[in-house]
Amino acid sequence: MTRVLVTAQLPAGGLEPLAGYDIDQRETIDHEQLIDAAARGVDGIVCVLTDRIDRELLERGAPTLRVVANVAVGYDNIDVAAARDLGIAVCNTPGVLDETTADLAFLLVLAARRRASDAEADLRAGRWVGWAVDDHLGHDVHGAVLGLVGFGRIGRAVARRAAGFGMEVVHHTRHDTGIAGWCSTLNELLGRADAVSLHVPLTGETQGLIGAAELATMKPGAVLVNTARGPVVDEEALADALERGVIFGAGLDVYREEPGVHPRLLDAPHVVLLPHIGSATVETRTAMARLAAAGVRAVLDGERPPNLVA
Ligand code: DGY
Repeated sequence: MTRVLVTAQLPAGGLEPLAGYDIDQRETIDHEQLIDAAARGVDGIVCVLTDRIDRELLERGAPTLRVVANVAVGYDNIDVAAARDLGIAVCNTPGVLDETTADLAFLLVLAARRRASDAEADLRAGRWVGWAVDDHLGHDVHGAVLGLVGFGRIGRAVARRAAGFGMEVVHHTRHDTGIAGWCSTLNELLGRADAVSLHVPLTGETQGLIGAAELATMKPGAVLVNTARGPVVDEEALADALERGVIFGAGLDVYREEPGVHPRLLDAPHVVLLPHIGSATVETRTAMARLAAAGVRAVLDGERPPNLVA
């Protein structure tokens, strides 16, 4: 019988596409247990971004394993080159989380520019002594320039929201998009934007993309928003920039060492910190689970799924 390992609990209905298969679904699974389970013979794995799907695991599973599907659009946790070498298909969840993730990125733009987190923390801690002209001053969102680094589906969905809030939108991609607002260099975008939002996958090229030099190029009143992947930003450099007022603030949903958060970011001024919840709605997580499961089903049925990465 066809066997599929599922490494996490998923929203109700998420596994419907796998009906009829023998499903081994875990609450939690560590890396060694995952390797053991793969080595015992499974045809497919539905995994999440906290599972490290490395070459060793893929090699141990390879005698039977035909497909790995990540319940995430990012797949930097999967050794795609190894999967390709071993003839194992990799699927992800593009498309279904764009609007939800864009909502959260825009929430961070608003919250960072208007200082929602530190203002609320002060109120909750009893530090609010009453209305004052200079209390918790942030910066306007309307009329400001939003700079999108990466202009794929999620970046474009953020741009649509920004237009509704009266922002000017610029974007940077390596190749000219032919769309108004394209900046040919990252530095040009960083120098123009009042809010910079990152929408690139984590790759060798984007690791540390925003470091001390890039932060120094940003405007002193600007905020940095990251809903992509933590390692795209040099967190030490970001903490420095915030502490020294090189930039005004930041809104972060992702971190280099999740679930750890750099201690200096916890104390830095004007920072909004969320625990990687970009796509975390019932509707979207259900759609993501179904899409990942459908990818597994398609590969095991000998079809090419639309969400095939490699
Ligand atoms: C992804 O899909 O890559 C997000 O980080 C989790 O929704």
